[in-house]
Amino acid sequence: MSSGSAMEHTDQAEHNQQAGQPANDQRSLRQALGCFATGVTVVTTQFEGQDYGMTCSSFNAVSLDPALVLWSLQQACGSRDAYLGGGGYTVSVLSAKQAALAMHFARGSQEERFAAIATEQAPSGRIIVRDCVAWFDCDLHQVVTAGDHDILLGNVQAYECAQGEGLIFERSRFGTLKAAA
Ligand SMILES: Cc1cc2nc3c(=O)[nH]c(=O)nc-3n(C[C@H](O)[C@H](O)[C@H](O)COP(=O)(O)O)c2cc1C
Repeated sequence: MSSGSAMEHTDQAEHNQQAGQPANDQRSLRQALGCFATGVTVVTTQFEGQDYGMTCSSFNAVSLDPALVLWSLQQACGSRDAYLGGGGYTVSVLSAKQAALAMHFARGSQEERFAAIATEQAPSGRIIVRDCVAWFDCDLHQVVTAGDHDILLGNVQAYECAQGEGLIFERSRFGTLKAAA
């Protein structure tokens, strides 16, 4: 992976590999889990007439028939009630050119997050980030509370996929995919 903007990166991960860490060491567990590269999405919902959006890397496929996806929401998230009460969510898979948007949708008020952002509307009426490489418009199917997160299973009602390279997130860095040697 070629890396873009960095958040925090230390050589602790290499050290942990040698030393071995107890699974309850949160910092090192987070670092170890961060070795698993993912895509990056912005998940939106609507609740009581307001739009909500947040960056999410835990999005994943679950089932083709029925069409199910999931993502994990940290319970400490200020928008938790909106995601649990909104009845559904829309996932925009970010493109390789949208690393700044990934940081933008991880902080600030909801009004600030949507200000000056180019958007479109999904069939549900929820927001799609314009120029994303794919989107999935989902009804909320099931919520599984798991530790300090909620797993939100969604039933895909509509989706679209475009050309273009997706954004990759690994070890707290954004990047793009390079063919393996
Ligand atoms: C690359 C990246 C991936 C993230 N993935 C998730 C995720 O999968 N689940 C989650 O709950 N938060 C995730 N976050 C953090 C949330 O975006 C952030 O906590 C949230 O937007 C804060 O919203 P609040 O101010 O309403 O609490 C991620 C942040 C970044 C930068």
